[in-house]
Amino acid sequence: MRKHIVAGNWKMNKDLSETKSLIADLKSQENKGDAEVIIAPTTINLHAAVSALEGSEIHCAAQNMHQQESGAYTGEISAAMLKAVGVNTVILGHSERRAYFHEDDALLAAKVKTALAHKMRVIFCFGEELEDRKAGNHFSVVEAQLKNALFELESDPWLQIVLAYEPVWAIGTGETASPEQAQEMHAFIRKTIASRYNQDLADQITILYGGSVKPANAKEIFSKADVDGGLIGGASLNANDFYAIVNAFA
Ligand code: 13P
Repeated sequence: MRKHIVAGNWKMNKDLSETKSLIADLKSQENKGDAEVIIAPTTINLHAAVSALEGSEIHCAAQNMHQQESGAYTGEISAAMLKAVGVNTVILGHSERRAYFHEDDALLAAKVKTALAHKMRVIFCFGEELEDRKAGNHFSVVEAQLKNALFELESDPWLQIVLAYEPVWAIGTGETASPEQAQEMHAFIRKTIASRYNQDLADQITILYGGSVKPANAKEIFSKADVDGGLIGGASLNANDFYAIVNAFA
């Protein structure tokens, strides 16, 4: 069976003391199901987060990284730097990085390649904008995002990849894709991977849904056959809400 994952993307929220305090709250919660739990605090707090999480089941991810190994890239963070503080998972391709920091498919392909070379696990985000869905282009947009950033890879590195389908119109808007819309797209994603690679590989890939997942709707969304968990924004900033979502798998 595919791995279930619930990951919290904290985005640009929580300073150092707030990070420690939220982690303490998260550690007091009980995971009653089988989902792996991941949190992604801001880069500056990753080191502290990793040590605060020591001995707990919660893993830590970065929200971004640079594609180069090292050098004159002011303000950037390398894969080796993340690994040196104990972070082995990185979120790449988030729609906010695409929209506000102009990250395109070619850049993301380079970032993915670097992360994989460092044996990191990648949570790769993608998803269509509202105009794409209104125009009925959502499947072709998603297919192109996958193809351009990931389909040059051989099969083996795919086992280090988790996909996160996040329709842009559902992020932070309170508007969720319906469970049926999520399932429809996740099945399409799996079919697209199966046609490029094979069914066996496609069946092993964990595909998360992201976009206004809350305690009230998580169970229904996660109950769909091809939805293997969630990438949670707003609701991951509160330990009770986040674990209510984690325990949708209980
Ligand atoms: P919200 O859960 O706040 O809609 O954010 C989703 C998201 O962008 C997770 O990466």
